[in-house]
Amino acid sequence: MANKTLPILIFVLLTLSTFFFFSTSANDQSFSRTLCPQKLGLKKQKLSHLHFYFQDIVSGRNPTAIRVAQAKMTNTSKSLFGAVFVMDDPLTMGPELSSKLVGRAQGIYASASQSEAGFLMVLNYVFLEGKYNGSTLSILGHNAIFSGVREMPIVGGSGIFRFSRGYAEARTHEFDLKSGDAVVEYNVYVLHY
Ligand SMILES: *[C@@H]1O[C@H](CO)[C@@H](O)[C@H](O)[C@H]1NC(C)=O
Ligand SMILES: *[C@@H]1O[C@H](CO)[C@@H](O)[C@H](O)[C@H]1NC(C)=O
Repeated sequence: MANKTLPILIFVLLTLSTFFFFSTSANDQSFSRTLCPQKLGLKKQKLSHLHFYFQDIVSGRNPTAIRVAQAKMTNTSKSLFGAVFVMDDPLTMGPELSSKLVGRAQGIYASASQSEAGFLMVLNYVFLEGKYNGSTLSILGHNAIFSGVREMPIVGGSGIFRFSRGYAEARTHEFDLKSGDAVVEYNVYVLHY
């Protein structure tokens, strides 16, 4: 009797230990869990409207946007195809550069169209004002600068703007053809918590 039950017992023990080994190691390797939104302090989603002016200064001794790269054929292209600019542009409450600073637009714009003045915009609005100080919004969009209204997606944000999405509308307020300097009015509509 005993020499028949022993192998069965060993078999059962082996099977059980294998089962526990895999189930505990699966727990050790788990990297995700489900949370209820309240745990992150997320309550009701709200819609905010932000209004400011974007000061793009390419001329003079203190430009806020600089050309950092281009292709050989960029200068022969009507649309400056291939030119890449890095910006740290002031965002102001009013259209005058001297008006209250609310943040900065930091990032890259690059001429990505061969047929029109169309820029790829990859930037963060870094806010400095009041409760927005330290929070950011990230924009990734197409900007045909000579169109009346351009719409660019807000793809995310940080701080007050965690879990953001929305869109930004740009309208040129002033463009100096000679210097290339521009003031652009922005209306931003963003959903966040
Ligand atoms: C293209 O034009 C820019 C600005 O006018 C100038 O600084 C640059 O030297 C030119 N590059 C070439 C390759 O001609
Ligand atoms: C924004 O935050 C920075 C860093 O905490 C602080 O130095 C600065 O004074 C703040 N600005 C405003 C306008 O509150």
